[in-house]
Amino acid sequence: MTDVETWVPAGKVSELPPGRVRLVTGPEDQRIAVCNVDGEFYAIEDVCTHDGGSLDQGELDGVEIECPRHGARFDVRTGAATLMPAVMPVQTYPVRVEGDDLFVGLTPESGS
Ligand code: FES
Repeated sequence: MTDVETWVPAGKVSELPPGRVRLVTGPEDQRIAVCNVDGEFYAIEDVCTHDGGSLDQGELDGVEIECPRHGARFDVRTGAATLMPAVMPVQTYPVRVEGDDLFVGLTPESGS
């Protein structure tokens, strides 16, 4: 994993129950979807690689999130596209939990 440059506050653990997704905006307007998969937190870019759909608006089904636009699916642990029409992965970000606070780590290349 690349070095984290900035940890962005991503809300409360207690307000993101399992199976739910929260949209977090980075300092350079990066859209990040933070997902709770059975108590494990994952963060991915909130932009579908098929045609820009907002993944936070889709359904989280186990470790996969479904794009609400055309139904592509991504593994939130790795960012890999698991179902067409998307073929390219989405970016993933590290997540840190401190007590009841969540943070998403942005790396130098996250900003572009
Ligand atoms: S924009 Fe996500 S499947 Fe088309």
